[in-house]
Amino acid sequence: MKVQLRAFEKEDLDAIVKWVNTEAVTQYLSDSLIYPISRADEMKWLDSIAISNHREKVFAIVTLENELIGSVGLHNINWVERKAELGIMIGEPGLWGKGYGSEAVRRILRIAFEKMNLNRVYLRVFENNPRAIRVYEKCGFQKEGLLRQDHYSGHSYSNTFIMGLLKEEYLKSLDR
Ligand SMILES: CC(C)(COP(=O)(O)OP(=O)(O)OC[C@H]1O[C@@H](n2cnc3c(N)ncnc32)[C@H](O)[C@@H]1OP(=O)(O)O)[C@@H](O)C(=O)NCCC(=O)NCCS
Repeated sequence: MKVQLRAFEKEDLDAIVKWVNTEAVTQYLSDSLIYPISRADEMKWLDSIAISNHREKVFAIVTLENELIGSVGLHNINWVERKAELGIMIGEPGLWGKGYGSEAVRRILRIAFEKMNLNRVYLRVFENNPRAIRVYEKCGFQKEGLLRQDHYSGHSYSNTFIMGLLKEEYLKSLDR
């Protein structure tokens, strides 16, 4: 075991503001993060992900030494169709490639399928993010589709994969 998930606290704000203003990290994330982001806006975001928000469940990723290293969440939760969109970031590039991301994804999948009883978790990942694609494939996600020229960066357009994992596939992977 390398990481645990916990709720975000107000004291985490400085770290979050740093991550979302680090281009090495945000280049792989949603286009809402292309602009510099203020503490005030990030505070509003922190307030918005309170446990009373039934559309989003976002958690802090901490190491066993209790160091805050990132965030992982389920977004656009649809309780009728029992599906949600996964998002993750390890906020310090120096901590990439140490197995933290894969374990954090497995932990949120456990919450999604075993606690929330979702049937489908999906995500969007840029084609030029092989590290993230590897993590999702290791965790059982399949590529389901390709959105052509979906993302603009560095004066050019690139493709985005949709990846998905169903509860039945998740449960089978536990048997192995
Ligand atoms: C994507 C992210 C969450 C992954 O977390 P991580 O802790 O770095 O991932 P892990 O260490 O668990 O696993 C990385 C895997 O990718 C592999 N990898 C690394 N670079 C790679 C590359 N260029 N091509 C293919 N595989 C690569 C590693 O070898 C490892 O696989 P392995 O365990 O089979 O050896 C993290 O890198 C991150 O936050 N990146 C920036 C934000 C981001 O991309 N978020 C996802 C948006 S969809």
